[in-house]
Amino acid sequence: MKNNSTFPDGFLWGAATSAYQIEGDPLADGAGPSIWQRFAHTPGNTVNGDTGDVACDHYNRWREDIALMKELGLQAYRFSVAWSRIFPEGKGSLNEKGLDFYEKLVDGLLETGIEPLLTLYHWDLPAALDDRGGWLNPDIANWFAEYGEAMYRRLDDRVKKWTTLNEPWVVTDGGYLHGVLAPGHSCHYEAPIAAHNLMRAHGAAVQAYRAVGTNEIGLVVNIEPKYPASDDQKDLAAANRADAYMNRQFLDPALLGFYPEEMQEIFGDAWPEWPAEDLDLICQKIDFVGLNYYTRAVTCDEPDSLPVRAGAVRQPHKTYTETGWEVYPDGLSDTLLWLKKRYGEMPLYITENGSAFFDPPKAVNGRVIDPIRMHYLNQHLCAVRAAIEKGVDVRGYMAWSLMDNYEWSLGYAKRFGIVHVDFETLERTPKDTARYYSKIIESNGSVLDEPFLPLSVHTRHG
Ligand code: BGC
Repeated sequence: MKNNSTFPDGFLWGAATSAYQIEGDPLADGAGPSIWQRFAHTPGNTVNGDTGDVACDHYNRWREDIALMKELGLQAYRFSVAWSRIFPEGKGSLNEKGLDFYEKLVDGLLETGIEPLLTLYHWDLPAALDDRGGWLNPDIANWFAEYGEAMYRRLDDRVKKWTTLNEPWVVTDGGYLHGVLAPGHSCHYEAPIAAHNLMRAHGAAVQAYRAVGTNEIGLVVNIEPKYPASDDQKDLAAANRADAYMNRQFLDPALLGFYPEEMQEIFGDAWPEWPAEDLDLICQKIDFVGLNYYTRAVTCDEPDSLPVRAGAVRQPHKTYTETGWEVYPDGLSDTLLWLKKRYGEMPLYITENGSAFFDPPKAVNGRVIDPIRMHYLNQHLCAVRAAIEKGVDVRGYMAWSLMDNYEWSLGYAKRFGIVHVDFETLERTPKDTARYYSKIIESNGSVLDEPFLPLSVHTRHG
């Protein structure tokens, strides 16, 4: 149905990236190594042995990248700060040159009329802190709060939206349970401790913000709705466990002050009795939640998949992305409605949403034609709009990602950008999706109801 409805006034349209994935030069200007520097340089950890040594060279090309954002009409840019550029040892003496980089970036964005959204932690823990136990050491809550405070003191006069952690679930599941992300541990006794300390660090950083900051701070989580594969009790229970593990494990303590009861059942003797004061620390009032949404999981009972004992059932006749994720836009509106129902009224931002599909390594005739990604964007934005129409307070959308980048252990093999990066020349080329996104932004979403494929028809005939 064509209705050409727009998004609320002031809806913030932008794109997101993270430090290690785009910056390159990770040791420049006195920065210390991060756990990703170590992990990526350890043979066998990443596809092709790819590292973030060069990535998109954003550390040196940030001016060009801001110009690109302006050309695309972005109103906001979500990025993260590399903790080890600010505190090379993770704590102690501050590296002014590292802070200067982000200060210049923020100033450049503001001069261009682009709102910065700053994430303090997107997975690149200073290696020096990992040497002290990293997320397993309870002191990390203080280290993180001190780092946060240094950032707030310098930038809160210009950065109006802060977030503490990006996706604590991925940090613990990939980094401490399955060993596929830095620091590469595989131990189900460690995962709950790392998760709990991440959440304590989040709480401590919010507390520190209230002491010195004057704007808004939130938490970014990835939510993947779990739909039971059948109405068999076993599948229903598996979907519940999977939801507790991936989704509620982080939002329940942060927003409600308790952990889901399924956690004990999932981790057994590896799930400790947490002190009540820890939950008080974790459950700080935050100003918004950032939602990263990519896909759903149709979930079945799978007794051998420990610790959650749940599996995912592949859906016939559905589109899957290059990272093997089902394209399921309805899951985004379902998730937004669920957030409102479970946690009550609160401002929400989509802080990431996007897809990797095949794109050529090089732009051809200055163009990258990516119709499946355009369709993904269209459908997910329609889903956001549907949730807004049902009363969910969604205030912005950040496409993942501004540009193709280092997809962690998958290296440069998966392209999530709306802008193509030629990893030989580092040339940036807006894909058709970026051009389409510009039109969406310009019309505040009303072009979503108009036919858009193929974009070439529109561009060729004006
Ligand atoms: C992360 C990004 C990542 C993206 C695609 C999210 O989980 O925040 O860093 O590139 O998903 O995998």
